[in-house]
Amino acid sequence: MSNLDDIIKSRRDTRHFTNDAIPDEVIQRALQAGHYAPSVGLTDATKYYLIKSTEIKKAVKELFLDYDIKASNLTDDELQKVQYKALKLEAIEEAPLGLVICYDRSVLNNFTIGTVGSNEAVKFSAVCAAQNIWLSLTEQGYSMGWVSILNYYQFKQLLGLPENIEPLGYFCVGKPATNYGNQPMLQQLNWKQKTEKPCVEEILVPVSAPKSLREAKQSQSSDSTISEALQQKIDNKTKPTGSLGVLEILAKQIGMVFQSLEPKITKPNIVVFAADHGISNHGVSAYPQDVTRQMVTNFLEGGAAINVFCKQNNIDLTIVDSGVNYDFPTNANLVSAKIAKGTQSFLQCSAMSQAELELCFEKGAAIVNSIFETGCNCIGFGEMGIGNTSTASVLMSVLLELPIEDCVGKGTGVVDEKLIQKQNILKKALDNYSGPNDLQSKLAYFGGFEIMQMAGGMLQAKQNNMLILVDGFICTVAFLIAYKMDPSVKENAIFCHSSAEKGHQTILNHLNVQPLLQLDLRLGEGTGCAVAFPIIQSAVCFLNEMASFETAGVSRS
Ligand SMILES: Cc1cc2nc3c(=O)[nH]c(=O)nc-3n(C[C@H](O)[C@H](O)[C@H](O)COP(=O)(O)O)c2cc1C
Repeated sequence: MSNLDDIIKSRRDTRHFTNDAIPDEVIQRALQAGHYAPSVGLTDATKYYLIKSTEIKKAVKELFLDYDIKASNLTDDELQKVQYKALKLEAIEEAPLGLVICYDRSVLNNFTIGTVGSNEAVKFSAVCAAQNIWLSLTEQGYSMGWVSILNYYQFKQLLGLPENIEPLGYFCVGKPATNYGNQPMLQQLNWKQKTEKPCVEEILVPVSAPKSLREAKQSQSSDSTISEALQQKIDNKTKPTGSLGVLEILAKQIGMVFQSLEPKITKPNIVVFAADHGISNHGVSAYPQDVTRQMVTNFLEGGAAINVFCKQNNIDLTIVDSGVNYDFPTNANLVSAKIAKGTQSFLQCSAMSQAELELCFEKGAAIVNSIFETGCNCIGFGEMGIGNTSTASVLMSVLLELPIEDCVGKGTGVVDEKLIQKQNILKKALDNYSGPNDLQSKLAYFGGFEIMQMAGGMLQAKQNNMLILVDGFICTVAFLIAYKMDPSVKENAIFCHSSAEKGHQTILNHLNVQPLLQLDLRLGEGTGCAVAFPIIQSAVCFLNEMASFETAGVSRS
């Protein structure tokens, strides 16, 4: 076949192969075609691994089978399930050759042309190579099948791929046993019809113009006249004065926030903001970036710690995509507030632009408002984002003017040399900073989308007179930002726990606040808020329901 148009039209995703071996020249020519493909900033980050071992193929097939069950469980439509299970979606063991096309994200450690909009441009380049290989194989009378139904984390482990090497998938290569009637196999089997024409539209005018940064409104301090009445009510309860300790302080605070002697918590909600961080490409976390989206999926499926604790305590849970480096399906039960697919690495440039920072504050506020409109008056803030203890540590160092060594902890679990490496990278990033000295510029430079959305959300929660439950280290850094913009936000905040993450207690001391719990939690997700919630309810209950000396007819002394 020589006509490009014919090659493009006859290229097929292939899952049925003959037993024929593939001559080396065919493979070499196809891989060279991959190498001729464009790559962002000429990074040449695409890497290839060949698999001929039956043992490895067998293990990859098992990974496929494991995920295939998960995939078939994603549809509730029984007919569709049966139809799905009948499809042949791989030829891992039959195809003579397995090809693993990867991209090396360590190229992001150096300044790279074209990756400012999305780190994914490196991945896109590898996809261009995959298509060239596919076309070259077709032209030579061979073909390929793309297998993506795999747990990529396990897949990488199975092949022993280094941390910085990310596979696009497993590609089955061989001589096709069929051309599926010159159409995609999924179409031949009536799974889906491919549209005939490309979907093209011309956009004629810009839809929205960027807005200027919203000034954080300073809120009014709470009315202090109710303070004395609340104290009197607490002291009149049938107990020695002060004997309910922190619960008494909490009860008074809650009464003050709601300006009521009989405060009630309604429709409590914990919001988990998730986003990715460019800095995670520099080996600062024990986990790869992809874990952020895997954990978001876990939240949506109800399997994470925060799901369990929210369920236990009747707390509603809201999951927000603040900027995960992944496209979630549009029907996923999550609030889409994606600013971008992860921040840029602040080792080399600003993590986000001023416009993105503004947008974070706007979106965070809008999310809190929509939850408030459901009748919620108590909102907990949680987060998820691989690399975000690094971002939070740097922000803490900037906000409190402390050396980075005092702000860096082990995060998800980096220890020993990796911890020193994390510290050194963050120190380098801070030393590299040569931008303006104002808070706004530094927040954009070192920020994280979820952290800034939480800060914006907390300011809005204060405006709405809601109780603000603050979780661990990262969440408290977001609170610190909100506090710098409007110190009165502290009136509404309950600090749920003191985290095992190194810098947390230092910020709590700086804010002069006492957290409710000390459980060595360092998970994030808002788990500290959920676990502390029953204690907050106890404070409300004793204030509302406990007898006074008068009603119970008990003598005071
Ligand atoms: C990124 C990507 C991942 C894919 N993953 C799988 C897969 O895991 N299993 C499968 O059977 N097909 C997979 N495919 C193949 C598509 O389903 C196939 O390309 C599509 O049905 C169109 O068929 P055609 O390539 O023959 O035109 C993948 C394709 C792409 C582009």
